[in-house]
Amino acid sequence: MNVAPPEAMPITVMVPGDSGAVSVGADEVARKLAEEGRRRGIDLRIVRTGSRGMYWLEPLVEVQTAAGRVGYGPVSAADVPRLLDARMLEGAVDDLRLGDPDKHPWMRSQQRLTGARLGIVDPASLDDYLAQGGYAGLETALTLRPREIVQRVTDSGLRGRGGAAFPTGIKWQTVLDQSATRKYIACNADEGDSGTFADRMLMEGDPFALIEGMTIAGIAVGATQGYIYLRIEYPHAARVLEAALDRARAHGYLGDDVLGSGNRFDIALRRGAGAYICGEETSMLESLQGRRGEVRVRPPLPAIKGLFDQPTVVNNVVTLATVPVILARGAEFYRDFGMGKSRGTVMLQLAGNVRHGGLVECAFGLTVRELVHRYGGGTATGRPVRAVQIGGPLGAYLPASQFDTPLDYEALAARDALLGHGGVVVFDDSVDMARMARHAFAFCALESCGKCTPCRIGSTRGVELLDRLTTREKGDRGAEVSLLQELCETMAEGSLCGLGGMTPFPVRSALRHFREDF
Ligand SMILES: Cc1cc2nc3c(=O)[nH]c(=O)nc-3n(C[C@H](O)[C@H](O)[C@H](O)COP(=O)(O)O)c2cc1C
Ligand code: SF4
Repeated sequence: MNVAPPEAMPITVMVPGDSGAVSVGADEVARKLAEEGRRRGIDLRIVRTGSRGMYWLEPLVEVQTAAGRVGYGPVSAADVPRLLDARMLEGAVDDLRLGDPDKHPWMRSQQRLTGARLGIVDPASLDDYLAQGGYAGLETALTLRPREIVQRVTDSGLRGRGGAAFPTGIKWQTVLDQSATRKYIACNADEGDSGTFADRMLMEGDPFALIEGMTIAGIAVGATQGYIYLRIEYPHAARVLEAALDRARAHGYLGDDVLGSGNRFDIALRRGAGAYICGEETSMLESLQGRRGEVRVRPPLPAIKGLFDQPTVVNNVVTLATVPVILARGAEFYRDFGMGKSRGTVMLQLAGNVRHGGLVECAFGLTVRELVHRYGGGTATGRPVRAVQIGGPLGAYLPASQFDTPLDYEALAARDALLGHGGVVVFDDSVDMARMARHAFAFCALESCGKCTPCRIGSTRGVELLDRLTTREKGDRGAEVSLLQELCETMAEGSLCGLGGMTPFPVRSALRHFREDF
């Protein structure tokens, strides 16, 4: 009897499809692979994953071999024929071969909890998500009472990753304690800080983690509707999220009866119109309600009177996407990472003038030096690192003499700095710090919502002051520096929200550590 030979299995090749990888040619690489595969009669299965966060190696193509995944990068479309000739599909040696990406020094020393599936799963595949431990957190949550879910989040020590670092469990408890007919979960996906991209990577690379986290939040506090407020500049994230939301709904993970538990929860996507201030939570709520993004006076807190005047949990993407792992693996597991009051892991985004930019997820406590030099490899220009700005456009500049500072909330606060959303932007010794201070005021003037005077007027006066200070040949610079200090104090003390209130951070730190530039 003739037995038909077993059908050959397709060879799986992973090509990241997130915005970062696409911006350096990942789509062209995927197309070329498909074309060459067809031409050579090779049965290729090309999967578009998210990115692992080693952006200097993108497009980073991974081949599923019998011995595991083998990475190659950075691969251009022009490299594809040569790599196929060199037996890339068998994991053969080549100049671009990186080996198992998990064992790459950049990845090996990280602790990936929130971003564990980045670059591993196909963001469009619910099956992939489930196969990688997805929805285990929701399954656990459904066995608990709401206050027990909140207690676990409190016990984990999780603090908001959007910037203010407020304890997430306390916020949830406040919403749970309110009696209201409607409550909401509002996910802040405005990600306006310069040099930050963790929210985008998560939404584009592992969207179900955010959806699961929001669903757990809804069930914990008694909210039935969630909104993701996504910045307009993220069209790819919008497409990935819409597809994942449809899939979650179709499989009963969202809707009138979440997994047959009797809980109702659904999520809608809303797009912002591109204003930095709409990332501030009360402006975001205004914008979500279809109004101009202007800051609301607090109190009342959004947890008490938020979206449509109802109790609302406002959390950042990273915060919410971290909740599933806490529920799945336990509060103690999560809080075992970190130091002091900064528990768990932090997603640090390394950008600016740096050789190896990308995402580093580590337990809190890594120093600035380790991040910039060990992970970042120093500056891209090869010149000495002079300063780093941590926490977005309103974050302080740290000089090289403070690079032993651990990246945790309290250690940075002790340096008059802040961690914010975890963006770290590197500058070499050609940076003009007086210009950077001017930029902080100019940014504030451009983005101010205009509601309060210290920010609306003060930011413009700050630009004028710095122009006088840096361009004038003669004059009483001492008096101008004191005026600058006074202006910073007025803005810090008198502004209604963090935009005006935190603009003094970059200005004061530049003045304190780099006085020679003024
Ligand atoms: C000017 C300004 C801009 C902000 N932009 C963002 C943002 O883009 N994304 C974000 O999550 N939080 C942003 N925040 C912080 C939010 O107001 C709020 O603290 C956060 O969304 C709460 O979520 P969390 O507790 O999970 O961090 C901003 C705050 C200020 C003052
Ligand atoms: S500090 Fe600026 S952005 Fe904030 S409320 Fe005042 S004017 Fe608006």
